[in-house]
Amino acid sequence: MSGVRLAHDDRGEVAQLHGLGIQRFGDLYYAYGENKVKGNLFQGVVCYTSPDLQDWTNRGIVLPVRDEGLLAADTIAERPKVLRCPSTGEYVMYVHAERHDYSYAHVAVAVADDPLGPFRFLFSMQPFGNISRDIGVFQDEGGEGYLLSEDREHGTHIYRLSADYHSVVEDVVCLKGTDYAFGYESPTMIRHEGLYYWFGSQLTGWDCNDNMFATAPAIEGPWSDWRPFTPEGSRTFDSQCDLVLPLPDGQFLYIGDRWNPDDLGNSPTLWLPIRIGGGNASLEWHDEWHYEA
Ligand code: DGJ
Repeated sequence: MSGVRLAHDDRGEVAQLHGLGIQRFGDLYYAYGENKVKGNLFQGVVCYTSPDLQDWTNRGIVLPVRDEGLLAADTIAERPKVLRCPSTGEYVMYVHAERHDYSYAHVAVAVADDPLGPFRFLFSMQPFGNISRDIGVFQDEGGEGYLLSEDREHGTHIYRLSADYHSVVEDVVCLKGTDYAFGYESPTMIRHEGLYYWFGSQLTGWDCNDNMFATAPAIEGPWSDWRPFTPEGSRTFDSQCDLVLPLPDGQFLYIGDRWNPDDLGNSPTLWLPIRIGGGNASLEWHDEWHYEA
């Protein structure tokens, strides 16, 4: 696999895997991405499937553009993430829902009976009244669902989801960075060998920065200090973390956006193995690397 990819789908088009979320349901990986072909305004959430994370089949728009209001063509929607709710079997999508000027700061919830949608918009919210910008989701080993949500100077929250995953029931933790006045955005989390690893980026718009991670034995904490997982000053090899994805062989895959603000639809993504263990996370550069699905 190439370290930097502008992945093409089965139609020969650049896969719109921006701000993506990936889950494995059955034999396939389902990737939900921001469709940025015509710029930043909302063009629907697109889904691609792959058996091996290399070849992607375009399955079309799974969360359509609405005629008016939120998720309409004059709004923005970012970082679509889908979980399958174990208690209902339903597929639940969380997505950052915005006005064109980023003044709305809500998270929208949509549901579907099939991972290929169509997802039906339910409502948008500010969890417990808090601003919600970049989001991530996490499903723990017992099936509990969590929403990670960035709330500017208050920090970044991890909210526990209700049993049906439709809403939040608890603000479990809210963290700012270490020696940093804000929480980290583009949040994503994994659990490995009894430790939670939380990743995020500093708030620099479309520009890259040294992304950070922290660890804890429980989601409530205590959380470690935040520190970079790439060489300091490398700006995370010019990327913004999207996902750290557990692979079947016990390894982990880092996926990050290298935003091209003047041509968002052609922004490449970084796909690199990330070493996780013993409280450390380390991403090394590889022009090419081998991955056996
Ligand atoms: C950083 C966020 O992580 C992106 O998803 C996007 O909202 C940009 N900011 C917009 O500047």
